[in-house]
Amino acid sequence: MEKPHKGRRKLIKTLVLGMVSLPVLGKFLIPRTQRKKGIFRVKKTDIPGNGARVFGEKKIAVIQDGRNVYALNLTCTHLGCTVNTTPKGFACPCHGSEFTPRGDVVKGPADRSLEKLSVEEQADDILIMTTS
Ligand code: FES
Repeated sequence: MEKPHKGRRKLIKTLVLGMVSLPVLGKFLIPRTQRKKGIFRVKKTDIPGNGARVFGEKKIAVIQDGRNVYALNLTCTHLGCTVNTTPKGFACPCHGSEFTPRGDVVKGPADRSLEKLSVEEQADDILIMTTS
């Protein structure tokens, strides 16, 4: 039979190990797109009239299609690599998924569109609500 103080030590070790491992487990259990939120501001004049501009450091593409402005999160919906721009839209270098310029899946293994980010136009700026 175990002595009472050994059982208590085991319990304390288990609790400490659990407290230490929770943040690490959370990193893997919480999807990337739900981690951080913020606002990214760009000047309207920085976006081509009928084209796109990629902000690589933010993993965001801001696209102006006529009078419509939208933004895409460039994180691949398969396993989270950053997609590259191509003449036909976007392509993932990791496993080959392809997306249209609007972010819709053309070729898997990704089975979901690129995330569309909320956009708000203000005077001379475009505010993009980021999730990562
Ligand atoms: S991470 Fe993009 S296709 Fe796998």
